[in-house]
Amino acid sequence: MSASEPPGASEQAVVRPIAVDDLGSSQVTVVQDTPHGALAVGISAGKPFALSNRCRHLYAELGKGRVTDDGCLECPWHRALYDVGSGKMVRGPQGYSNPWPAPSRPQPGLAR
Ligand code: FES
Repeated sequence: MSASEPPGASEQAVVRPIAVDDLGSSQVTVVQDTPHGALAVGISAGKPFALSNRCRHLYAELGKGRVTDDGCLECPWHRALYDVGSGKMVRGPQGYSNPWPAPSRPQPGLAR
């Protein structure tokens, strides 16, 4: 720490800002190496949010999911939904792997 730095400044991680335009149609992305670890960062109903990047179910990266029309964050693997305000899971896993975006035709062996 130099004399001109505030206490603790040299220990803080540098977090790169994300432009809203860089979020794409999913409206969420992963930001690595924050002081809280990797985060799922996005926009829901015009408001920014940041949640843990790991789904409670099988630890998929939530930042690779999408924000739904009703403003929840949807897990990319089994479509669990998270309230972006509280971080609570509001809908559990939907029973099968559903890569996002969904395949255009049914995959052999997967019940729909
Ligand atoms: S890993 Fe997220 S719902 Fe399964």
